[in-house]
Amino acid sequence: MTSLRKIGLFDSGFGGLSVMREVRRLLPAEDLVYFADSAHCPYGAKPVEVIRERAYAICDFLISQGVKLIVIASNTTSAAALEAVREKYNMPVIGVEPAVKPAAAVTVNGKIGVIATGVTLVGERFNSLVKRYGTGLQIYAQPCPGLVEIVESGRWDNEETEGLISGYLDKLLAKGVDTIILGCTHYPFLRPLIEKLVGKDIKVIDSGEGVARQVARVLGNGFPEGNIRLAGSESFFTSGNPKFVEPVLALLWGKQGLQVTKKEI
Ligand code: DGL
Repeated sequence: MTSLRKIGLFDSGFGGLSVMREVRRLLPAEDLVYFADSAHCPYGAKPVEVIRERAYAICDFLISQGVKLIVIASNTTSAAALEAVREKYNMPVIGVEPAVKPAAAVTVNGKIGVIATGVTLVGERFNSLVKRYGTGLQIYAQPCPGLVEIVESGRWDNEETEGLISGYLDKLLAKGVDTIILGCTHYPFLRPLIEKLVGKDIKVIDSGEGVARQVARVLGNGFPEGNIRLAGSESFFTSGNPKFVEPVLALLWGKQGLQVTKKEI
C-alpha cells in the first residue's frame, strides 16, 4: 500500500506536530505534509459544524498535494469530524482520541484524569471510549481553556502558565488520580511542565505513538515502493501569517530555518 505519495496531517495549529514527530520516528522515509489552520485556531470552543467545514477544506487541500493518507492530528477535530471526513473521502483517514485504553491498562488505583478541550470532552467519541474501557474506573474530565493558545505562542516558561496549568491539574490531583491523559495534541509540548507539577508518581500518557503505529499498520509498515530512501521530506502550510508561525514551528519541530507556505482556504 505504501507509495511515493505523501502522508497529510493537520490540526488547528501546530499541536499536531506532537503526532507528526511520532510518525516521523516510526516512518523515516515517508514524505509528510502538515497544515496548521492558524487563522482559525483554537477550535476547542467552536461549533462542531464549523470545525467540520474546516476539516473538509483542509482535506481538499491535502488531497491536492497528493496525499495517500490523512491524519487528523487533533482530538477536537476527530471528535467533531472524523466520521464525516471518512464518509466523504475515498482514502484512509486516521484520527486521534484520548488514550483511555492505555491509561486503563496502567492505572493502579483506577482513578484517571483527562485534560482536553471542551469539544473533545463532550463529544460522543470520548463518551463511548469511557463506556468501552472505563468500566470499574473513575474517569475525571478537565477542560483546559487557554493551553492551546499558550503552545501556539511558543512561550510557556513563565509563572502565569504554570499557575493556569496547576489550577487544572490540582482539581484532578484532589480526586486522587494516579494517571493523567493528555487528550489534546498540543499538550505533549507542555509535558515537562505537567510532569514537574504532578510529580513522578503520576503517569502521564498521550496518543502520539499509538497513532503513528496505526499509520504504519495501514501503510503496511513498508518503504515507499521502488525507492529505499533514508529520509523523507517535510513540508508545512498555514492559513495564518508565516512570519508569526515560523518561530513556533522551529521551536516545536526542533529545527531552525523551516519554511511555512501561506495557503488561504
Ligand atoms: N490540538 C487540538 C486537539 O488535539 C486542539 C484543538 C484546538 O482547540 O484548537 O484537540
